[in-house]
This record gives sequence, structure tokens and C-alpha cells, in this order.
Amino acid sequence: LPDPEVTALTSDDVADLLPRPGAESDKYRRGVVGIAAGSDRYTGAAVLSVGGAVRAGAGMVRFASSAEPVRLVRTRWPEAVTTVLDPSLVLRSSLDEVGRVQAWVLGPGLGTGPEAHAVARAVLSTGVPVLVDADGLTLVAKDRSLLRRAAPTVLTPHAGELSRLLGVPREDIEAERLEHVRRAATELGATVLLKGSTTLVAEEHRPVRVNTTGTPWLATGGTGDVLSGIAGALLAAGLTGYDAASCAAYVHGLAARVASGGGVAAGPGQAPIAALDVAEALPEA
Ligand code: APR
Ligand code: MG
Repeated sequence: LPDPEVTALTSDDVADLLPRPGAESDKYRRGVVGIAAGSDRYTGAAVLSVGGAVRAGAGMVRFASSAEPVRLVRTRWPEAVTTVLDPSLVLRSSLDEVGRVQAWVLGPGLGTGPEAHAVARAVLSTGVPVLVDADGLTLVAKDRSLLRRAAPTVLTPHAGELSRLLGVPREDIEAERLEHVRRAATELGATVLLKGSTTLVAEEHRPVRVNTTGTPWLATGGTGDVLSGIAGALLAAGLTGYDAASCAAYVHGLAARVASGGGVAAGPGQAPIAALDVAEALPEA
């Protein structure tokens, strides 16, 4: 039965919402996205998140992290402007050196120790929208005070991460996904995108948007990190958290289909994909 509290974006909706450069566009107006991700231990997630943002059409990607992820990001995505963060200075510096950022992505591969916590606090203290994923979600689950902020926040958990955020067993989340994503949006005062075979996007006072463009080929490490960069680029371009999250889920799923040899009409695809393939298929999707 139709449920007015649940809805889905059509391809026409997404085409209307996705930003396109006009004749007078410049890179700043198209959106500068800052990405605070990666650590010397986990470098790959940062490369994937930056790739999602670059290929989703960000005007500029600014990447801030420790030395090793910065080195890898520069090698794979020379388009990104990078800053090596001195962990001992993060608490005092206000991320001002990372200029003109209009939205931040926080968390993929960041780690969960004291230095990562300091980065999370610095990013969440800014006055711009922030998307929190992966290790960033573990940090805010342990310290919810990080979420007390005026600007919009988008959280992108899978069921395990939402379980930690809400303090509810994972099985309960899986059994009642709709109820729990709604509850998280209200309780945490954020837009919440719950990942899985279908993706749900919840925000208080809005119908939950369901996305089914994905394919089971997406069940491979790192595809979520690509999604964080896509949504960050759309947030920086000026979409609301609700629209950025739901459009990102739509094009991410479609790009995965394209990468695996399928498509909207051609089905979910026949071939395995790697996470970077999803980023590379975004322009075609
Ligand atoms: N059908 C359709 N889509 C799927 C399916 C499926 N069967 N399985 C997964 N997906 C999609 C999800 O909706 C999501 O967009 O693939 C993506 C997986 O994202 P994550 O769960 O974040 O996985 P991953 O990218 O590997 O995460 C990387 O971050 O979450 C942490 O600790 C986690 O090490 C992991 C890292
Ligand atoms: Mg993930």
C-alpha cells in the first residue's frame, strides 16, 4: 500500500536536483568540499572518498590528513588540494588554513584515537554542513556532544554503525530499519542515510526516501567511502542534507550498475566491480 511517509526519487527528480555549471560558474561557486579522512594506518578510504567527490563534480576538493594519506591522494587525484594536518596543532588551529570549504566529509579511515577525536571536534566546530561516515560515526557514538552544532549534519551509517549510534542491537536495526532510521534522525538532530541492499534517508518532518538503484555488486570494501565523497560534493554545491544524501545514493547505485555492465534498463550488471570503478563510472551514470 502507498505510504505517505515513504517515498522514492525518480530519475527526473535527480536530474532536477543535480547541480550543473552555468556559463558564469567558477570552481568556488560549484562547491569546495573538504575531506578529513585517512590515517597513516588506513590510507585507502581517503583515496576513495576523494575520488567520489572529484568524479561527482566538485568545484574543488580540499583534503586534510596526515602525511601518508596525503601522499597517496596526491598521487591518485592530483586535482585535490592537500594539507598535512599536524595532530598536535589540530586542537588549536581552527582548520582556517583549509580555505573556502563549503562542506566537510569526516571519517573514512580516520581512526578512533585521541588525534582522530581532535580532528572530528575541529571539523564539527565549523559553521558549514558536515557529513560523518565510518570512523567518524564511531567517534560521535562515543561522544555525542560532537553533534551539538548549528549547521546541518549528515550521518551515513550501515546497520552496525547505526547500532553503535543508537545503542540498539544490530539485529533490531535490521528487523525494523525504517523505524530506527527515523528514530536516529530525530534523536541525533541529523539527516541519516542508512546503507544496505536498499538505502533509506531520513530527516525529521520529511518522508523517508528509499533508494533501490544499487546492485549486490556494491557489497565490496570501500564503496561506502566513495558514497561519502559524492554526498559531500553535493552538500558543498548547496543541496540540503536530505537532497544531497538521497541524490548521492541514487547516482552511486546507478554508477555501480554501469560499472558492472548493467544500467537502469539493463539491470544490476554481471561483473564484479571495485570501489574506484564506482567513482570512475559516475560521469556516465
Ligand atoms: N545491494 C545493494 N547495495 C549494497 C549491498 C547490496 N547487497 N550491499 C552493500 N551495498 C551498498 C551500501 O548501501 C553502501 O552504499 O554498498 C555500500 C557499502 O558501504 P559500507 O557499508 O560503508 O562499506 P565499506 O565502504 O566497505 O566501508 C568501508 O568503513 O563502514 C566502515 O568499518 C567499515 O571498514 C569499513 C569501511
Ligand atoms: Mg563504510
